[in-house]
Amino acid sequence: MVRNVAAEMADLDPEDFHLLSGVEHGMRFSRWVNREKLPEFSRLTAEEVDYRLDRMLDLEFLERKTIQYEGVQLTFAGYDALALHTFAERETVDGFGAPLGVGKESDVYEVQSYRPMALKFHREGYTQFREVHRGRDYTSEKEHVSWQYTARKAAEREYDALETLYPDVNVPRPVDQNRHAIVMEKMTGTELSKAKLDPAQASGVLDLILREVAAAYGAGYVHADVSEYNVFVSEDGIVLFDWPQATPTDHENARELLDRDVENIVGYFQRKYPSDVPEADLEAVRDAIAADEFRSVEDY
Ligand SMILES: Nc1ncnc2c1ncn2[C@@H]1O[C@H](COP(=O)(O)OP(=O)(O)OP(=O)(O)O)[C@@H](O)[C@H]1O
Ligand SMILES: [Mg+2]
Repeated sequence: MVRNVAAEMADLDPEDFHLLSGVEHGMRFSRWVNREKLPEFSRLTAEEVDYRLDRMLDLEFLERKTIQYEGVQLTFAGYDALALHTFAERETVDGFGAPLGVGKESDVYEVQSYRPMALKFHREGYTQFREVHRGRDYTSEKEHVSWQYTARKAAEREYDALETLYPDVNVPRPVDQNRHAIVMEKMTGTELSKAKLDPAQASGVLDLILREVAAAYGAGYVHADVSEYNVFVSEDGIVLFDWPQATPTDHENARELLDRDVENIVGYFQRKYPSDVPEADLEAVRDAIAADEFRSVEDY
């Protein structure tokens, strides 16, 4: 988990954000931004850069490396601070709350807006980046794909999918997106993996999930990561969330991914509620979903 930067936000000055933005800009060209370029990139005087740089290094919003030259780079915390600052300026977010979920690929927090929302920071590419680049010459600029880029693309893909699917599919309502972060409606209920369904309801809940999978397919997307960890259940029904890997239905792997989604979720119900979920012909279920004819697993 990357630390929660919200507490430090109030102490930052506009010039601090100029410096962070300047480094962000420089990272489009090189992984480590040459310190000598910072006055130009951040439009601050050299003295101001010196002062702000020390502050941002202390807060670990930036990190520094000296190899052939002195270079600085944003950390994920610094990138989080930039996104939060933008949300605050747009008045999307005006308070920061408790963690809602910490995954390998994201950190999700409650945030305050006109009502409670969820803010998801994408972390894709981060661990991978650390692995791939460990021990390498960091100044090598070949195949320069930064973790920021990977994480930002994931957030954009997820936001695009939510915007297309909402409200026809039960997904969290998308509110705003910036850099690697999205703000969306906060779900109520429980993750399916932690829910104890009344056995009599299990098959009905599975049907609800598969109907949303079908509705998404009809709207042009395969979720591609359907599991008990990406479904919330509540009195009001189910919500299917976590869409960064969503794949358009005209993609060559779409059918295969749909297959896997159906297998995963039906398999979960059959393992957890063996006597309450009927055996079904999964290929027939998948075909019915793709043809927009699915009603209930009991039909197959
Ligand atoms: N809109 C939301 N409202 C409330 N809680 C949420 C919301 N979005 C995500 N969460 C919580 O945060 C957790 C992680 O979110 P999500 O599944 O989208 O990210 P992830 O990167 O897939 O995490 P992981 O790698 O662990 O699967 C969820 O399991 C859920 O508990
Ligand atoms: Mg998830």
